[in-house]
Amino acid sequence: MRIAIGSDQAGYNLKSEIARWLAERGYAVRDLGTDDADTRVDYPDFARAVAQAVTGGECDLGIAVCGTGLGVSITANKVPGVRAALCTNTYTARMSRLHNDANVLCLGERVVGIGLALDIVAAWLQASFEGGRHARRLAKIRNTKGTKVGRYQVTGH
Ligand code: RB5
Repeated sequence: MRIAIGSDQAGYNLKSEIARWLAERGYAVRDLGTDDADTRVDYPDFARAVAQAVTGGECDLGIAVCGTGLGVSITANKVPGVRAALCTNTYTARMSRLHNDANVLCLGERVVGIGLALDIVAAWLQASFEGGRHARRLAKIRNTKGTKVGRYQVTGH
């Protein structure tokens, strides 16, 4: 499995640990930067690179890291076709795959320690989309852009 990974300087150390952990387990890691923890960069550049590596088909999944995970998740979710999940525990990581088919995992280096982060990555990679009723909901997510408030019909609940 090919995994794109990227971070800003605030996520660099965690990104490096995750990249090493993935490579040791046989994943093909595409590290899109940044390349050190000291040079200030802008997290949207790296979140977008990870997101586009996934939607462009170069990689199967992506992992984006910043200080909180918030900036990279907000950015990645603006790329059409991306379902980015900001996770701080293994339960949401697993559920983001099972129910939401998340294709980008977002993490905050200042929020989770390395041990928990690696458990989150493992839980995320081990789970896979359940489909069924959840596929209908993903179609609704895809169709949400441009929906006019007040004109939406609730169906299938
Ligand atoms: C960088 O200081 C920080 O703002 C960034 O890593 C991230 O937490 C933004 O959401």
